[in-house]
Amino acid sequence: MKQLPILIFISVIFTFSCAPKPTLEVPEPYKKGQQYFHEVCSNCHGPDAMGKHTQAPRLIDEEYLADNFSDADINEIVLNGTDKMPPQKKNVTPEEITEIIKYLRYSQKAAGLEQEEEEEEQTS
Ligand code: HEC
Repeated sequence: MKQLPILIFISVIFTFSCAPKPTLEVPEPYKKGQQYFHEVCSNCHGPDAMGKHTQAPRLIDEEYLADNFSDADINEIVLNGTDKMPPQKKNVTPEEITEIIKYLRYSQKAAGLEQEEEEEEQTS
């Protein structure tokens, strides 16, 4: 087994070069955003934006649905941070933020979180 050291080397590289990995498959249009999220945000916000990793909140939560926390709000937080979250301006381009937001919105839906549409439910 001459290749064994190489195999070990490769698996070590894989283990340490990736921040928390996404565990969920997303459809093609959201893959880019998922990738950016995992490069830039998941160290703090956890794999799949589910938190738990640090003090950063999970973003797949009712609190962050579009009606409560708009795309513009997310954009603003990413660019300028808060007193607890460092600004990410230098780590993402505006296009990447747009992709990340698309990915987050998809993930919120996929998790079954949706703004209640009361009118629809009342019709019978
Ligand atoms: C260095 C760690 C870190 C990174 C990297 C990071 N965040 Fe955060 N984020 C935090 C912390 C901590 C909070 C909680 C901030 C607070 O309560 O003021 C937070 C809060 C947020 C909030 C909610 C703010 C609120 O007012 O409730 C959003 C949305 C958010 N982050 C999005 C992102 C996105 C998108 C990225 C990637 C582009 C990202 N964050 C990268 C640490 C991080």
